[in-house]
Amino acid sequence: MTRHPVKIQPIIERGLLVGVAIKGQPTPFSLDDSLDELERLAETAGVTVVTRLTQTLQRPNPATLIGKGKLEELVSIVRAEDIQVVIFDDELSPRQQREIEKAIDDDDVKVLDRTALILDIFAQHAHTKEGALQVELAQYEYRLPRLTRAWTHLARQAGGRAGGATGGVGVRGPGETQLEIDRREINRKISQLKKELAEVRAHRERYRARRRASHLPLAALVGYTNAGKSTLLNALTPARVLAEDKLFATLDPTTRKMTLPSGREALITDTVGFIQKLPTDLVAAFRATLEEILEADLILHVVDASHPNASEQAAVVEEVLDDLGAGHIPVVIVFNKIDLLPGRQLAPELAEDYPEAIPVSALTGENLETLLAHIEALIIARMQPIQALLPYDQGDLVDLFHTFGVVEEEVHGNDGVRLRGRLPHTLVGRFEAYECPESAGAPAVPKRK
Ligand code: GTP
Repeated sequence: MTRHPVKIQPIIERGLLVGVAIKGQPTPFSLDDSLDELERLAETAGVTVVTRLTQTLQRPNPATLIGKGKLEELVSIVRAEDIQVVIFDDELSPRQQREIEKAIDDDDVKVLDRTALILDIFAQHAHTKEGALQVELAQYEYRLPRLTRAWTHLARQAGGRAGGATGGVGVRGPGETQLEIDRREINRKISQLKKELAEVRAHRERYRARRRASHLPLAALVGYTNAGKSTLLNALTPARVLAEDKLFATLDPTTRKMTLPSGREALITDTVGFIQKLPTDLVAAFRATLEEILEADLILHVVDASHPNASEQAAVVEEVLDDLGAGHIPVVIVFNKIDLLPGRQLAPELAEDYPEAIPVSALTGENLETLLAHIEALIIARMQPIQALLPYDQGDLVDLFHTFGVVEEEVHGNDGVRLRGRLPHTLVGRFEAYECPESAGAPAVPKRK
C-alpha cells in the first residue's frame, strides 16, 4: 500500500530563518551554528534561505516567541523579500504559531518550526512501512493542536466530499465548524494509524525473534545526521544502502551481514540520524526504531570528525543514548571522514576527549580493518566463558560451539569432547546440561581449532 504522509503545503521556496537566544540559558550549539544546521535542513526540504533574523531575549514571549518590534521587522522582510516560508529554530507553541501567522496575514506564507521541518524531511525519507506510519502519525499528532484554516482541506480530501466553511450534506452536524470536523477526522486517522503500527510492530517482533535465533552478534550504527553511517554500512558489508549528502537519508534501520577478520559473521544495523533540539515527543515517536539499538551487543557511534561541531554532535548522540537506556552497551567511537582532515590531524579536543576512538574513512576505506578487528575483539569479550563435556552423540552442539563461539581448547576423551571457550549469551542455555568445571587431568591429545 502506498502511503501519502501529509506534506507541508504549498511547495516552499524562498525562506526566512528565525533564531532566538535566551540570555543565561546554555545551549549545546551557538545560535549561528544552530541556524547553519537549520539552513541545511531547510535546503534538504527544498527551501532556499534568503535571509536570517535573530534576537536575544531575557525570556521568550509567550504570545509570539520574539518581541513585538522584531515581529514587525519579520513581517516587513517577508513582504520585501517575497518570503514564502518562515522557519523558527525553536519549537513554536500552537498559540505562538497562530499569532505569528495572524501578524503576517498572508495565507500563502507558511510559518514552520524546526519540528515541522524535520517531520517533513522524515516523510520524504521513510523507506519502510513502519517508518512511513510513524512519520504520518507524528505529523498528525503535531498538527492536531495547531489546526487553523490552512488544514481544512484534510476533511474534504479524506471523505471526497464537497465542503465549505458552512457545512456539507451528511458530513456536519448542526453548528459544527470545519475546524471541529478536521479535528475529528485527524483523531480518527490517528487511531487508525496506531492500529496499523501495532500490526507492523508485531510483525517486526517476529522478525527480531528470528534474528535472535540466528545467534549472530549485532552491532548498531548510531550517529548525528550526515556523520556517514550509511556509507560505513556500505563499506563494511557487500550490501548497497542509499547514501546521500542529504540529512536523514536513513530513517529506517537496515540490517546487513558483515564478515569479521576471523571469518566469523555479525549483523550490523543502521539507524536514523540524531539531531539537536529534536523534541522529546518526536524522539518518542521514533523510539521503536531506536529500540533496535537496545538489542545490540555493541554500538558503533559514528562521528564526522571533519565537522566543526563534532564534539557537540557527539554529546547530543550520547545524551539520546542515555535517554534510551543504552548506557550498558559497549560503545566504539568511530571518527569518520578523516580523509577530509588536513594531515589526518584530529581537532585537539576530539583527540583528548575520545582517546580510544578509531579514526576511519568510510569513503576511502582507510583503517576499516582496524575497526573490524576492534569490533570482533569486543564481541568476543562480551561472550560468556564456558567449559562443557559433550557426549559423542551431541555432534550438533560441537558444531554450534565452533560456528558461533570461540573454542580455546578442545580435548577428545573417552566420554566425549571437552570444549573450553566462549559462547554468545543466547546459546549458553543449550550447553547448560553439559557444563563442567575446569577439568583435572584432561585426557588425550589437546586439539586447537
Ligand atoms: P543520515 O541518514 O542523515 O543519518 O546520514 P548518514 O550518517 O547515514 O550519512 P551518509 O552515509 O548518508 O553520508 C553523508 C555524506 O557524507 C555523504 O555525502 C557521504 O558521501 C559523505 N561521507 C560519508 N563518509 C565519508 C568519508 O569518510 N569521507 C568523506 N569525505 N565523505 C564521507
